[in-house]
Amino acid sequence: MDRKRRVLVAGGSSGIGLATARAFAEAGDSVTIAGRSPDKLAAALKTLPDGVTAEPVDALSDASVAELFGRLGPLHDLVLTVGAGAAMGRFETLGVSAIAQTLETKLMAQARLAHTALEHLSDDGTITFLGGVAGRRPLPGMTAVGVANLGLQALASALAKELAPLRVNLIAPGLVDTPAYAGMSTEARTAMLQATADALPVGRVGQAEDIAAAIFAVVRNGYITGAEIEVDGGAHL
Ligand SMILES: NC(=O)c1ccc[n+]([C@@H]2O[C@H](COP(=O)([O-])OP(=O)(O)OC[C@H]3O[C@@H](n4cnc5c(N)ncnc54)[C@H](OP(=O)(O)O)[C@@H]3O)[C@@H](O)[C@H]2O)c1
Repeated sequence: MDRKRRVLVAGGSSGIGLATARAFAEAGDSVTIAGRSPDKLAAALKTLPDGVTAEPVDALSDASVAELFGRLGPLHDLVLTVGAGAAMGRFETLGVSAIAQTLETKLMAQARLAHTALEHLSDDGTITFLGGVAGRRPLPGMTAVGVANLGLQALASALAKELAPLRVNLIAPGLVDTPAYAGMSTEARTAMLQATADALPVGRVGQAEDIAAAIFAVVRNGYITGAEIEVDGGAHL
C-alpha cells in the first residue's frame, strides 16, 4: 500500500465520518471530507489537522456526485458515512414511502457515491460502506433503516467479489452518540442512550471514535474484504 493515501470521507463533516477523517489525517493520509452543508464542513475543518480539505456534495444528486469526483481526481480509499436521518417508526404508521425515502437517503446515496468513484479508485483501493445493527437484528420501529442496511450488506459483499482486487467492506454500528440525534429533546435523547447502554453487554453506547477505529482497521488491513463488521457493543446478540 502507498504510505500516504488519498482518502475521501463522504459524510465527514459530523459524527462517525468526522472521527474517521481525524483518524486517517492523524495517520498521515491526505484526507478530504464531503457533505451538503458548507457551515458544517467549515466547522469540521476547524477541528481537524491542517491539510484536510472539504468539498460540498449532495449524495442524492447524480450531477453533484459526478462533479465531486471530477474535482478530486485519483483516490485510494472511499469511506461512506452518509445516510443518517432515516425514517423511524412502526410500519403501520410509517407507510411504505418511508422505506423508499430511507433507501434513497442511505442505500442509494452510498451506492451512487461508490459507483461514481469507481473510475477514480486505484486498484489497491477500498470502499467502506456504513450499515447498522438494524438489519442484522429486527428492531421494532426501525424497519425502514433495517431494509436499507441489509441492502448495503448485500451490495458490499457482492462488490467485494465483482470489483476485486478493490477491497469492499461494511461496518455495522449499533447506537452511537452523534449529532444524528440532535433533533431529539435532551430528555428523550438521554433516556434513549441510557436505556440502550443498560441493555448492552458492554454497558455503554458507542462513540464516534469506536466506529472510526474499525473503519481505519479494515481500510488498512489488506487481507480484509467482503467483511461485515459489527461495532455495536453486542447489540446484534
Ligand atoms: N449514530 C448511530 O447511532 C448510527 C447507528 C447505525 C448506523 N449509523 C450510520 O452511520 C453513518 C453516520 O452516522 P452519524 O451518526 O455519524 O451521522 P451524522 O453525525 O448525522 O453525520 C452524517 C454525515 O453525512 C452527511 N450527509 C447526510 N446526508 C448527505 C447527503 N445527501 N449528501 C452528502 N452528505 C450527506 C452529513 O452532512 P450534511 O448534513 O451537511 O450533508 C454528515 O456529515 C450513517 O450511515 C448512519 O446511518 C449511525
